[in-house]
Amino acid sequence: MTTQDELKQQAAVAAVERVESGMVVGLGTGSTTQFALERLADLIKIGKLKRIVGIPSSLRTEKTARELGIPLTDFGAHPVIDLTIDGADEVDPDLNLIKGGGGALLREKVLAQASRCNIIIVDESKLSPRLGTKWALPVEVVPFARAVEEHFLKSIGAAVTVRAKEGKTAATDQGNILLDARFGPMQDPGRIAERLNARAGIVEHGLFIGLTHDVIVAGKDGIRHLTRSA
Ligand code: A5P
Repeated sequence: MTTQDELKQQAAVAAVERVESGMVVGLGTGSTTQFALERLADLIKIGKLKRIVGIPSSLRTEKTARELGIPLTDFGAHPVIDLTIDGADEVDPDLNLIKGGGGALLREKVLAQASRCNIIIVDESKLSPRLGTKWALPVEVVPFARAVEEHFLKSIGAAVTVRAKEGKTAATDQGNILLDARFGPMQDPGRIAERLNARAGIVEHGLFIGLTHDVIVAGKDGIRHLTRSA
């Protein structure tokens, strides 16, 4: 029996195959990406990959990358990323995503928009006929606007909970709040994204529409690729 962690690792290893020496690599966040970071570090260590620099999508990933010895850079030095490897919470047939289960959605989207190529790595449990079927949508709001945006999300049909950690309201890397908005299966995720984009108090949300080039799915029958032309 293949465990879920083994599947995550298989997807991660397949994604790191796509990294070439000299690349600027976007480093995602989460338990699947953790396996990619470890693989990348191993290949750098044995000299199979050279002159790699990474841009992390969270303080957590930055810490891990430093511990693993992955050289880091920033957008000041490299405003364009060659390839980003990241996980997702839910993937639909059009390769649109819900991300942000780990709370890093803002920086993750900055990386995705700065990347020539975005590879998403998942085990098959993340595939979904419609976004919102399995996951609530994480929405990052400035603390000042919390009640306003909570009211707005409810008015467009979501059930809302405030993300908490160890009994306290969780803070993102930017010091903002996360509202988890449960919409149920979304008929038109692009339209929901537009409505959220228009709100001043919403800094970002976890709908990644049209940003993904390749989803590597690990399942009990092996690896498969879901692709969209760049
Ligand atoms: C982090 O904020 C998320 O977007 C993660 O990429 C996503 O939650 C996937 O995480 P796992 O690989 O841990 O499932």
